[in-house]
Amino acid sequence: MSKLRITGGFPLQGTVNISGAKNAAVAMLPAALLTEAPVTIENLPNIHDVHVLVEILKYLNVGVNWESPSKLRIDGSTLQERRVPYELVKKLRASYYLMGTLLGRFGRVEIPVPGGCDLGPRPIDQHLKGMAALGADIEVRHGIIKMKAGKLRGANIYLDVISVGATINIMLAATRACGKTVIENAAKEPEIVDVANFLNAMGARIRGAGTDVIRITGVKELGPASHFVIPDRIEAGTYMVAAAATGGDVTVKDIIPKHLDPITAKLREMEISIDVMDDKLRVLGNPFPRAVDIKTFPYPGFPTDMQSLAMVLLTQAEGTSIITENVFEGRFKHVDELKRMGARIKVEGRTAVVNGRNQLSGAPVKATDLRAGAAFIVAGLIADGETVVSDIGHVYRGYERICEKLSALGARIEEED
Ligand code: UD1
Repeated sequence: MSKLRITGGFPLQGTVNISGAKNAAVAMLPAALLTEAPVTIENLPNIHDVHVLVEILKYLNVGVNWESPSKLRIDGSTLQERRVPYELVKKLRASYYLMGTLLGRFGRVEIPVPGGCDLGPRPIDQHLKGMAALGADIEVRHGIIKMKAGKLRGANIYLDVISVGATINIMLAATRACGKTVIENAAKEPEIVDVANFLNAMGARIRGAGTDVIRITGVKELGPASHFVIPDRIEAGTYMVAAAATGGDVTVKDIIPKHLDPITAKLREMEISIDVMDDKLRVLGNPFPRAVDIKTFPYPGFPTDMQSLAMVLLTQAEGTSIITENVFEGRFKHVDELKRMGARIKVEGRTAVVNGRNQLSGAPVKATDLRAGAAFIVAGLIADGETVVSDIGHVYRGYERICEKLSALGARIEEED
């Protein structure tokens, strides 16, 4: 994997365009297989996770054609039922969406248990519970999940935990089930709404996405559709934090500001100036940000995907901040590397205490997962001297051209093998 070499100390300035949302895109590519008709997805982010999924689609003999670098035409009429090899599935967790899709379309599926970012235990019991409620017989053996259902039947499903993945996966399968499905305690993330809009454009009957009760009336078949993916709120949040941390002045463009409310509110609490416009916002760094407490929660709470990034910013705040990670219990793996850069952070269970306002110093650090990697890049931008972030492939899973985008904002950052 390649590395990024960053020389810190340069405030970011200028405008950055935000790409399509990773977490919507990785669900839409499998979702496209629910129909035999061709579909077109626009504003797909040019990221590694999307490319892996395209590889998986090709392996399944699906017709894929890039009409532009961000526009993909998918023809699922030639889809072949094959078990996707573990080597492909382990590269991204979202490959589990093939479960809902293939089960919905063929009434059976075999898929290796997925891999993905190491954020601690990541069970998929709610996905399995949902599929079982829809009528699937499930067997997990030798790392392979086998599901079989004559015909899926709609059901009432109450999720025990609020799960983005389980909500989408059940929605996918239920779209082609017979009768009505109700998902209660559903996740409300904007990406779920976007996937539901995409499925509805294909002829699905999904109501209530974006609330905690989603109602799906199954349909026999779905038709062609074209869809434009929403902007990535976590990519946008990353540049907001990078601008704030470096004391910069950055306009973050092509966004839906409403989706960023939890992040905007927290940055404003830190006394960072944010000017919100129609489809963009401007962040003006404050040399003396205030310490704040952060608790991560499902949307519309503060996103867990922004936790490591917010932590870097809080190392620059006056005073002590407390971060509580409520979504993933193992999501503080970035702390040790940040400490090596001079951050003063103490972790106790799900809580991290960040003692602010200390100059970070450049060091070699290793990206442990996607968002941790992004956090180290931001840490490198404000650190004294040089930071080398290795295993940067994790970051390319979810950030389109991050090196170029940051360079264009004035960062001293270069890639090396
Ligand atoms: C998705 C996002 C990820 C984000 C996360 C939380 C994608 C591709 N990834 O991941 O970027 O960090 O939402 O916002 O969209 N859980 C169970 N059983 C299950 C499923 C989940 O206990 O069957 C638990 C998880 O361990 C976690 C919590 O529920 O503690 C939330 O996980 P979930 O929302 O499912 O995350 P993902 O969909 O994997």
